[in-house]
Amino acid sequence: MKTTIACFLFLLNLVPLLASSVDNKVYIVYFGQHNNGAKILQEIEKFHFSYLHSVKESEEDAKSSLLYSYKHAINGFAAKLTPAEASKLSEMEEVLSVIPSHGQYSVQTTRSWEFVGLDEEDSHSWRKLKMGRENLALRAKYGKDVIIGLMDSGVWPESPSFSDHGMDPIPKSWRGICQEGVAFNSSNCNRKIIGARYYVKGFEAQYGSVNATEDFLSPRDADGHGTHTTSTAAGRQVSDAAAFGGFAKGTASGGAPLARLSIYKACWAVPNKPKADGNTCFNSDMLAALDDAIADGVDIISVSIGTEKPVPFQNDVIGLAALEASKRNILVVCSAGNSGPAPGTLSNPAPWIITVGASSVDRIFTAPVKLHNGLSLQGQSVTPNKLKKMHPLVYAGDVIVPGVAQNLTGQCLPGSLDPTKVKGKIVVCTRGVGARVSKGLEVKRAGGVGFVLANAKTNGNEITCDAHFLPATTLSYDDGIKILEYINSTKNPMAKINPAKTKLNYKPAPFMAGFTSRGPNVVDPYILKPDITAPGLNILAAWSEASSPTKLADDHRSVKYNILSGTSMACPHVSGGAALLKAIHPHWSVAAIKSALMTTAAITNNLGKPITDANGDDATPFQFGSGHFRPTKAVDPGLIYDATHNDYLLYLCTAGPNALVELNSTFKCPTNPPSTLALNYPSFAIPSLNTTVTFMRTVTNVGRPKSIYFFSAKPPLGVHIEATPSILAFKRTGEKLSFNITVSPKSDLMVKNSEYGFGWYSWDDGYYHVRSPMAVYLP
Ligand SMILES: *[C@@H]1O[C@H](CO)[C@@H](O)[C@H](O)[C@H]1NC(C)=O
Ligand SMILES: *[C@@H]1O[C@H](CO)[C@@H](O)[C@H](O)[C@H]1NC(C)=O
Ligand SMILES: *[C@@H]1O[C@H](CO)[C@@H](O)[C@H](O)[C@H]1NC(C)=O
Ligand SMILES: *[C@@H]1O[C@H](CO)[C@@H](O)[C@H](O)[C@H]1NC(C)=O
Ligand SMILES: *[C@@H]1O[C@H](CO)[C@@H](O)[C@H](O)[C@H]1NC(C)=O
Ligand SMILES: *[C@@H]1O[C@H](CO)[C@@H](O)[C@H](O)[C@H]1NC(C)=O
Ligand SMILES: *[C@@H]1O[C@H](CO)[C@@H](O)[C@H](O)[C@H]1NC(C)=O
Repeated sequence: MKTTIACFLFLLNLVPLLASSVDNKVYIVYFGQHNNGAKILQEIEKFHFSYLHSVKESEEDAKSSLLYSYKHAINGFAAKLTPAEASKLSEMEEVLSVIPSHGQYSVQTTRSWEFVGLDEEDSHSWRKLKMGRENLALRAKYGKDVIIGLMDSGVWPESPSFSDHGMDPIPKSWRGICQEGVAFNSSNCNRKIIGARYYVKGFEAQYGSVNATEDFLSPRDADGHGTHTTSTAAGRQVSDAAAFGGFAKGTASGGAPLARLSIYKACWAVPNKPKADGNTCFNSDMLAALDDAIADGVDIISVSIGTEKPVPFQNDVIGLAALEASKRNILVVCSAGNSGPAPGTLSNPAPWIITVGASSVDRIFTAPVKLHNGLSLQGQSVTPNKLKKMHPLVYAGDVIVPGVAQNLTGQCLPGSLDPTKVKGKIVVCTRGVGARVSKGLEVKRAGGVGFVLANAKTNGNEITCDAHFLPATTLSYDDGIKILEYINSTKNPMAKINPAKTKLNYKPAPFMAGFTSRGPNVVDPYILKPDITAPGLNILAAWSEASSPTKLADDHRSVKYNILSGTSMACPHVSGGAALLKAIHPHWSVAAIKSALMTTAAITNNLGKPITDANGDDATPFQFGSGHFRPTKAVDPGLIYDATHNDYLLYLCTAGPNALVELNSTFKCPTNPPSTLALNYPSFAIPSLNTTVTFMRTVTNVGRPKSIYFFSAKPPLGVHIEATPSILAFKRTGEKLSFNITVSPKSDLMVKNSEYGFGWYSWDDGYYHVRSPMAVYLP
């Protein structure tokens, strides 16, 4: 037995060595934080090169294997290495870790495919962005001269959303460039898009050269996602933005229409994968993009990219780069992910990042189905529809060809419908398996005249509007049941789909999207995530003319504006809102802007009731964080929970591997670093409350000079919370006051529900209401 094991181990060791001569892979060699100021850029590159050279046979060999030397975001480089070289480097004293380059990052939207229980979303509908309410936007001069960097799939620069009409010359301090490439030259940048670059070496090391029919080797966007997020953050106001054959008219506008944009393309089409599955982004390329964004002088970086599962801090390249960004007061805003409704799914959990969930807006595209019995069911659609009269109505499950599996009968999968039974009829299909738009295509193929898509139970009331190929409408789960009941109840069911009309002030809004990723934060359960929620359902924004609205192989349409859903769409809303805050408060720290957005967020909907999820149940801070963002309130928050880069390093002494911060010569982790609860964060979570927990918070007065704030709280059932002191009396603006929060289980109440409970505490002075959410687990 022993011999077998020894032999096996021997083989394991041998295999990588044998493979090494042929198998060069890209690795990121990571030295920790930069010692900024001490080294000039060439010296950093020399330093990296000396390490690489030490494991390579020749200088030429080392030169040709170096992909990137990271000079700002992290101290490290990316190079093609054999496993043996990688392991040699990882044993060197100054090297913290050697991370394999991989493409496990993806843009967080636009998958047209959905699966039962997985619930990843995308969709197409209309929305007039109205987050920058006129007075705030005016006061912020529409974000004038704030620079937002977007790391995504590039941009379609000809979109009217990126016109620089009437904009001032580019600020002198700008250090970015306009990198030329395929179908992209320097005249594609202007006073609006002031920078554009692309990063492809990590991608090409795995997939080979970019296929020219699938993507542009340049900052130009072949996908649409990057154009969409960019215009959401800071697109110009464009009236008559019309998608899908001019069906609906409206104004498209980004959050900060006069902010400048710099494009960092790091996400690419994956060879031999359906385009609708979305782009992939390599960690080595993203680090290079963030490295440049930091050096170029952007103020905000918007990242609608994440992993499907949370990753620890030492492998979280977005988080590591954002840590460096926080040192230079650059705010990084990220999407939480589309892996809901399962718990513990959210990505981008670092506390120096704003993590954004997705919720609905108060605009719907009502397209009711009228049934012959007089009943009218409210559906939603954005597809043009000239159906004039009632047509026979059938349920897809009743008109299938033989051989379709029992559990797939209603799904309208390709080839499943019987044309002799479908011709001239309106067909009801259910959501679940297969792309929504493909279901409509199947109805069309079989000769149907219209298509009703009924939500599955997990979708509840969350209706996503798509660019269908025939007259169509989508029903909530409850209405889907009603239409099936009607079909059952009569011999000759008939129906008509009415053309869509835009309806504003729809209630309730917002509600949380089912797909939005949820807490608890598995990387650090003491930091409550996401931080905030913003519009991410049926969002209208600019689109790449090199891509069709659905990205399906059969779709050859081209549109200037498109409608999508995802936390990818929510993230740039917050980036745009933060740009307005930054324009008004240029000297606020990253933490201050974040605190202002969080403590002023709303936890009720437009009916004055608690924000719900897609099924109408109360949503929790694990879905919406502090609540729905309100930039108009955030501009004047009263108090802020500030934090410095130093505080984040101290936090990492406990939360991350110490090594992350040890190399910074002026900063040393204390022997007994504080719990991560001690970070001055505007919310908190306690993953297991068996005994009393006390931690300190400090607030800075940014409201009226003389003000007295009173503590109040609504803790979860079975939890007692106290603040000492419980009154904060400020004498001047800028003054900081500290208080201790004590949280304990109620001994008189035998609540042992083994669940998270949720609540909030707040400071009120009669004018400002500074609220912090909490999540507490009672074991
Ligand atoms: C180390 O960290 C401190 C605290 O954040 C910072 O002020 C300093 O610039 C850093 N030093 C180096 C060499 O990076
Ligand atoms: C950029 O490309 C466009 C279109 O091909 C061309 O008209 C223009 O002259 C080019 N500009 C520069 C600066 O090369
Ligand atoms: C490039 O992509 C097209 C379309 O997906 C495909 O037909 C072609 O074979 C690809 N070319 C290469 C060299 O892979
Ligand atoms: C349908 O049923 C088959 C056989 O019972 C099963 O293997 C398959 O996973 C089911 N599909 C779905 C989408 O539920
Ligand atoms: C319609 O009738 C079928 C067969 O009788 C039944 O299985 C199904 O549950 C009914 N659907 C509804 C929504 O009532
Ligand atoms: C509370 O109990 C849980 C499980 O019993 C344990 O893992 C955790 O460390 C305890 N927490 C504290 C603060 O003692
Ligand atoms: C909070 O508690 C700590 C530790 O008990 C104590 O040192 C500190 O003075 C307290 N702060 C306030 C504001 O009460």
